Amino acid sequence: MLSEVLLYLGLDAPLHTQAKVTTAQSIDMSSSFSVKTVIDATVGAGGYSREICGTGAKVLGIEIDPAMAEIAKLSLKESCPSFKLIVGNFANIESIAKIEGFEAVWGIVFDLGVASPQLISLTRGFSFKNPDALLDMRLDPENQGVSASDLLNALDKSSLMKLFSQTCQFHESKRLAVRIIEERILKPFETVGDFIEATKGIFKKRGIVNPATRPFLALRIAVNSELENLQVALTDSAKLLKPGGRIVVVSFHSGEDQIVKKTFLQFVKLGLGRVLTKKPIVASRAEIEINPRARSAKLRAFEKN
Ligand SMILES: C[S@@+](CC[C@H](N)C(=O)[O-])C[C@H]1O[C@@H](n2cnc3c(N)ncnc32)[C@H](O)[C@@H]1O
Repeated sequence: MLSEVLLYLGLDAPLHTQAKVTTAQSIDMSSSFSVKTVIDATVGAGGYSREICGTGAKVLGIEIDPAMAEIAKLSLKESCPSFKLIVGNFANIESIAKIEGFEAVWGIVFDLGVASPQLISLTRGFSFKNPDALLDMRLDPENQGVSASDLLNALDKSSLMKLFSQTCQFHESKRLAVRIIEERILKPFETVGDFIEATKGIFKKRGIVNPATRPFLALRIAVNSELENLQVALTDSAKLLKPGGRIVVVSFHSGEDQIVKKTFLQFVKLGLGRVLTKKPIVASRAEIEINPRARSAKLRAFEKN
């Protein structure tokens, strides 16, 4: 999705190509070379930030996970000296941007979800491939008090049903909620394996996708208030764009995509701008072959008037 992200951010032409066009068309050099400012609201390991920096743009990065922020800092230190990284929640994008002087930006990008180092970590509990890991799932363990196992051990039946219904069908959510309550009386939930055990027989395997995928995702969304954070961040992002500035969002499940779609339509209704993607842009087959996670990626873009 990286090339599509750059395209929709209006950064697809690298600096040397822009220079050629500028010379040929004799466009005013000062305006075409004013530095573009971009906020990468989900820095992760820094892949997007590096490419955006490579176009000559000045990047402000936001990353909630201190461990990911360390990885990004190291990887961007040399290649992107002007990059500024804030460890924080993108729900606070407006105040972070204002403090850092990124109040009228060229573009803002969100690449939602979790990054590979988080997924493969043996201790964070983000993947059902590590059954012995503690069922934690907090993106920001320093500031978030409630882990995934805390939720499973404390919520009542209707709250558990509501939590799982973000990604699971009603009857699946109900059966899982009942089973969790039965099992936690015998032994509190501690590990990823405990949760996988509880999902057995409830979810049908769809293709190659592990049946625990959807309840696992619902739990992560709840632990990190992912949908609430996204809603606040998108609404505030519109205030931070300069005229012609763009928001580009890559989402990975329908809960996220619906928020992006509805919020952009709301912006249009309010006369703030236009949606650049009539339908969401999806990954090519070739990209999905290299990166199977891209199969559920959807890109939407909005441009401010
Ligand atoms: C899919 S990864 C981004 C990968 C990145 N584009 C790259 O090229 O490496 C998503 C990142 O967003 C971070 N994230 C998730 N929710 C966040 C939030 N509310 N505020 C800031 N960062 C968040 C995650 O910790 C993760 O590192």
